[in-house]
Amino acid sequence: MTRVLVTGGAGFIGSHFVRTLPDAKITVLDKLTYAGNRANLEGVDHDFVHGDICDPGLLAEVVPGHDLVVNFAAESHVDRSIDGAADFVRTNVLGAQTLMQACLDAGVPRVVQVSTDEVYGTIETGSWDENAAVNPRSPYSAAKAGGDMIARAYAVTHGLNVSITRCGNNYGPYQYPEKVVPLFVTNLLEGRRVPLYGDGGNVRDWVHVDDHCRGIRLVAELGEPGEVYHIAGTAEMSNRELTGRLLDACGATWDSVDFVDDRKGHDRRYSLDDTRLRALGYAPRWTFEQGLADTVAWYRDNPTWWKPLRGWA
Ligand SMILES: NC(=O)c1ccc[n+]([C@@H]2O[C@H](COP(=O)([O-])OP(=O)(O)OC[C@H]3O[C@@H](n4cnc5c(N)ncnc54)[C@H](O)[C@@H]3O)[C@@H](O)[C@H]2O)c1
Repeated sequence: MTRVLVTGGAGFIGSHFVRTLPDAKITVLDKLTYAGNRANLEGVDHDFVHGDICDPGLLAEVVPGHDLVVNFAAESHVDRSIDGAADFVRTNVLGAQTLMQACLDAGVPRVVQVSTDEVYGTIETGSWDENAAVNPRSPYSAAKAGGDMIARAYAVTHGLNVSITRCGNNYGPYQYPEKVVPLFVTNLLEGRRVPLYGDGGNVRDWVHVDDHCRGIRLVAELGEPGEVYHIAGTAEMSNRELTGRLLDACGATWDSVDFVDDRKGHDRRYSLDDTRLRALGYAPRWTFEQGLADTVAWYRDNPTWWKPLRGWA
């Protein structure tokens, strides 16, 4: 049976990856920051290690013996990176390097570094392919780009068999309610107001977390060392359009929306070309309509998961 180490596996996307990994013996290593939550893995068979990917001594104990290491561990919220970037650089850059070194030392045969479309900056029209230059504009995306560069350097310099995935904005169950979809849904379900940045014209490409994880599994299986693979969304839309859909799904109106000052340095648009991954056989399974309905239903049905995180329990 394949032995898989999932770092950051108690977070939103990592826990979905763990829940949907067939026939594997799984170790989750997670620092359990505010975003990590063992409840995300309830009922899922796994070994859990509470720890930090920046800790080389711990990694030297945990990493050996795994056939695959997938790194989800990160500080992941752009707004927090604007308030303070140090933890982002530490985990997203130094943590990635410490993990790559541990994988090299342990002779791990396959590694995937999970990353984001945000490393490319912002694009008015068209889409980035994997040869586009990184041009990050927030401390979050700059730190993620640093981790990606380190992963690629370990492939080129040391021959580590690591591929890098870059995905659009994810949504789905168990997403920490600071990100726009769960923040708005949980506010609206409680009859509260929602804050929309700037003119609401920033455009994002939405990917259901399940499609993201399916793409990562395919890259783990078929990806080339040192290469980047895009996982694009199925629904490009402005934040204003997204807000309209969330209002409809929660039975609320525009009366519940506050237009607030824009995020500093707010990237206007992200867009990925995922031809390379599709050539490996990838296709998303979720339409945005179905995914959003399913996600809103999940938050409606699981207030005991999110109310304590909002301080409303
Ligand atoms: N959420 C998105 O829309 C999105 C899109 C593309 C890529 N990504 C990337 O996917 C990955 C997972 O994102 P997410 O949304 O699940 O994030 P998340 O914030 O929900 O989860 C991150 C997890 O990493 C853990 N962690 C943080 N620092 C750690 C450390 N030093 N050592 C060990 N564990 C640590 C946290 O406890 C948490 O469980 C990140 O690398 C992120 O950059 C996210």
